[in-house]
Amino acid sequence: MCGIVGFNGKNKAVDILLDGLSKLEYRGYDSVGIAIKEKDIEIYKAKGKIVNLKEKIKDKELNGTCGIGHTRWATHGEPSEKNAHPHISNDGNVTLVHNGIIENYQELIEKLHKHGYTFYSDTDTEVLANLIDYYYKKYKMGPIDAINRTMVRVRGSYAIVVMFKEYPDELWVAKKDSPMIIGESKDGMYAASDVPAILKYTNTVYYINDMEAACLKKNKVVFYDLNGDVIKKESKKIDWDISSAEKEGYEHFMIKEIHEQPGVIEKTIHSFINDNKIVFNNIDRDELKKIDEVYIVACGSAYHVGVCAGYIIEDLSRVSVKVDIASEFRYRNPIFRKNEFVIIISQSGETADSLAALREAKKMGAKTLAVVNVVGSSIAREADYVLYTLAGPEIAVATTKAFSTQLIVMYLFAIELSRAKKQIKATEYKELIEEIKLLPDKTKYILDNEVKNIQKIGDKLSTFQDAFYIGRRLDYAIALEGSLKLKEVSYIHSEAYAAGELKHGTISLIEENTPVIGIISQEDIYEKTISNLVEVKSRGGYILTISPKKIDISKVSNYEIHIPETYKYFYPSLIVIPLQLLSYYISVSRGVDVDKPRNLAKSVTVE
Ligand code: G6P
Repeated sequence: MCGIVGFNGKNKAVDILLDGLSKLEYRGYDSVGIAIKEKDIEIYKAKGKIVNLKEKIKDKELNGTCGIGHTRWATHGEPSEKNAHPHISNDGNVTLVHNGIIENYQELIEKLHKHGYTFYSDTDTEVLANLIDYYYKKYKMGPIDAINRTMVRVRGSYAIVVMFKEYPDELWVAKKDSPMIIGESKDGMYAASDVPAILKYTNTVYYINDMEAACLKKNKVVFYDLNGDVIKKESKKIDWDISSAEKEGYEHFMIKEIHEQPGVIEKTIHSFINDNKIVFNNIDRDELKKIDEVYIVACGSAYHVGVCAGYIIEDLSRVSVKVDIASEFRYRNPIFRKNEFVIIISQSGETADSLAALREAKKMGAKTLAVVNVVGSSIAREADYVLYTLAGPEIAVATTKAFSTQLIVMYLFAIELSRAKKQIKATEYKELIEEIKLLPDKTKYILDNEVKNIQKIGDKLSTFQDAFYIGRRLDYAIALEGSLKLKEVSYIHSEAYAAGELKHGTISLIEENTPVIGIISQEDIYEKTISNLVEVKSRGGYILTISPKKIDISKVSNYEIHIPETYKYFYPSLIVIPLQLLSYYISVSRGVDVDKPRNLAKSVTVE
């Protein structure tokens, strides 16, 4: 989704803005623009990538030290220069960039028409610039008053950075339901949609809450509430290091992040284990003991972590689990048990539907836990409890390392819940933890030994138009992720099916050489999946399998990928590695922009 960068300080803003925007490219965008305070405010925009904008301004002398930049992911109005941000009010008094959607923009346009305003773009954002201008001129009480009145008047979601012609040395920030952080360094103040944009310059940040505003001067930031009163905030340190947001010699972020998995899995495991015991800081066993039902809610890959966790939690702790997609949950009117425990899983902590689901769950009285990667993100701040995954910044649009660390947190949650519910003995508890601790080495083993083979098979499969992933139970849950990964980065149509369900329709799509990826790790039911694969093979399907070596599938499989053995619950962590590699190499072979696949955004901050 849209990316925002603002800078006000001592250095040339243009370099900081373009560099920051390039760090936000992963969010997905289709046009780009900047506004810099020179003598007047100068605006430059381009359709397409940041290089197009760079080309346009290469001969310009831009020395201003205050400016705003934006990468736009089109919602209202096609991707074009006209619709690209920054947008400007009719007489140039207000210039701004915006992430989010203004839902009542039509009504506001009509209101502003009556006051003589005209509109040049198809966006909902332009109305914000004119509405702020309208209140600024009507009440003549300065920027904070105009911004606050606008916040009260608009419906929807927004993070904005605003420049006022009459306040040339200030940037103004406001937000509701869209991400925004403020950075501080000795060289100036920064505003950004996400940490990687400013990590090169500072790791000192402030979090601005919904319906708050901030004024970024050259050497300080002042926060305001909706009454216009000044509020005090403490800065926080972010401990991500800058190298984790760089490619470091890898061709793409996706493959770099795939290879980071053993390290980040290990970090995440150790952050929750002390002396062979799981330590969740603020959630104690008494709290877990009370849980009557767990509801896991998330989007995309995070939802697939939820599906995996659902199987494990129910089997291990005998607590009933529901798993739902956040955009469904929020409008479902869900039924809660007395002590309902809702877990929201999210890498970014900003996904609009997941955030709305969290708020819905809280409204209905459930206790909420966030499993989140980005420290201080909205979901992390609003949930009752938070468990952080330590994946570090994830840049590739298709998640890999965040997914793997989310699995780890959910395994640990399942084990701790089972112990609290007295469903497992101390010895079993210890054995499960011991086995989890072996996962970093086992994932590393796959990366050290299977990459070349998978690259080869990736090349072979890259010409197909359809693929199917099948498995049962946890193998089905992880098949969902394999299939999504393939779709996202290769544009090959693919579907994941519960193996037993294949006969109820999908098998009619199997033709000569259709690739079918069979996932076989669950020993008690593997024979059933093999039977399904035999059915597929006899209809011409090309069978690729992922399994531990001890399960013999040589008679069925056209191509076998082997993974190390682990305890039945933890296979998703090992299976997902070849699945990610396969998608990656197929994508490379097809010449797709792996890190930024078309139409996708890393952080989906609108509905
Ligand atoms: C987007 C990303 C996915 C991600 C999903 C949920 O679709 O491309 O990789 O799984 O959003 O994002 P979240 O930040 O909530 O985990």
